[in-house]
Amino acid sequence: MSKTLKSLRGFNDVLPQDTYFWNQTLKTLEQVLDQYCFNEIKVPYLESTSLFARGVGEATDIVEKEMFSFTTNDGESVSLRPEGTAGTMRACIEHGLSYNQEQRLYYFGPMFRYERPQKGRYRQFHQLGVEVLGIRSAALDAEVLIMLQQMWQALGIDEYVTLELNTIGSAENRADFGKALVAYLESYKDQLDADSQRRLGSNPLRILDSKDERTQKVLENAPTLEDFISEESKAYFAELQQILTANGIKFVVNPKLVRGLDYYNDTVFEWTTTRLGAQATVCGGGRYDRLVEILGGHSTPGFGFGLGYERLLLLIEEVKGRLTTPNADIFIINDGDVAAKGLQVASALRAAGLRVLNNTAGGKLKKQFTKADKSGARCVVIVNEDTLANDIIVFKDLATGHQEVVAIDDFVAKCKV
Ligand code: HAM
Repeated sequence: MSKTLKSLRGFNDVLPQDTYFWNQTLKTLEQVLDQYCFNEIKVPYLESTSLFARGVGEATDIVEKEMFSFTTNDGESVSLRPEGTAGTMRACIEHGLSYNQEQRLYYFGPMFRYERPQKGRYRQFHQLGVEVLGIRSAALDAEVLIMLQQMWQALGIDEYVTLELNTIGSAENRADFGKALVAYLESYKDQLDADSQRRLGSNPLRILDSKDERTQKVLENAPTLEDFISEESKAYFAELQQILTANGIKFVVNPKLVRGLDYYNDTVFEWTTTRLGAQATVCGGGRYDRLVEILGGHSTPGFGFGLGYERLLLLIEEVKGRLTTPNADIFIINDGDVAAKGLQVASALRAAGLRVLNNTAGGKLKKQFTKADKSGARCVVIVNEDTLANDIIVFKDLATGHQEVVAIDDFVAKCKV
């Protein structure tokens, strides 16, 4: 036998025993999206690398080290999408969906990041993403957060997630802060780690995320972003908090929350949980009023989030258990040379609305009963010589043991759901 092949590290199969839970959960989320009048958009998994460099940010971890990029035969650099916002904006600009319009969009699908895999962190993972274009208002930000709260409630996990909220001000506010930070850090340059020294010139705000102890020590007395947030941004954030409170949405303001993508301004948020270990963020997002323009479109405000689907399923499983695939309503035993009739009976029962497992493999009666038991089906219908001759079947309720002989038509009529 030749060596068996395995999936790539961080790339998971979703097996048949898991897809019901996967699909039903998505249905629940889509029902909520539908109530808020969101429309689905499907964009490609592969885009030009420059889209993410411009959109997500050249100096972000995602673009610097986490993309699956390669050069095509004709020399173009392309990347598997690490996230969905940049591609969605590219599509909206390309198809004239962003200029002077409002859009309420969502997408669901795989994203790809070259990260070190662990529980809740994969190289191919799925996101349910939402993007609203054309509205800049605290009420819209609040509405999207209220929708998320409704999603947690619909899934029965609202008591296990916490909304963390912050404002990072405008791009100008952050640029001013960046300048002040660089001015401060320049005088301690030799005490910073190598990465941070390099970032002084490229992306000083990322220095705040440094895990290096000496760098963190230097940062203790550095200027903070809070000091540079404009009055307008502060008022916007205050209004958002007031609307959320009036709508019964609990949150904590986390001044340290900045998010790892460059396109945000003003509102940023994450829903976190204490039940998943290190990968605690189930959903993250915020406002991005400059992104469309950065990607070559007309200035259009945006707000959205990405919900990590695998993490969501892990959380549901952890706190309430998973949904299991329902068993068949009826298992049809084909007793003898009755395959054609068995299929007719199966079709009639399916047309009546039942889920039917027809044992086309045939075999000895006893073996078929064992199979029926194993399938977990509630009832068995036996198709045999009498069925061929008189259109009657044997019906057995496996739960109660009750058994009877009935005409097919009567049985189908009784089964209609
Ligand atoms: P993000 O915070 O990079 O934001 O990702 C959103 C969510 O995706 C995370 O909170 C997490 O649950 C999940 N996630 C991220 N990386 C992984 C991974 N390697 N394995 C499993 N799950 C992961 C964005 O992607 C933005 N596009 C969200 C957004 C949309 N902002 C505005 N609109």
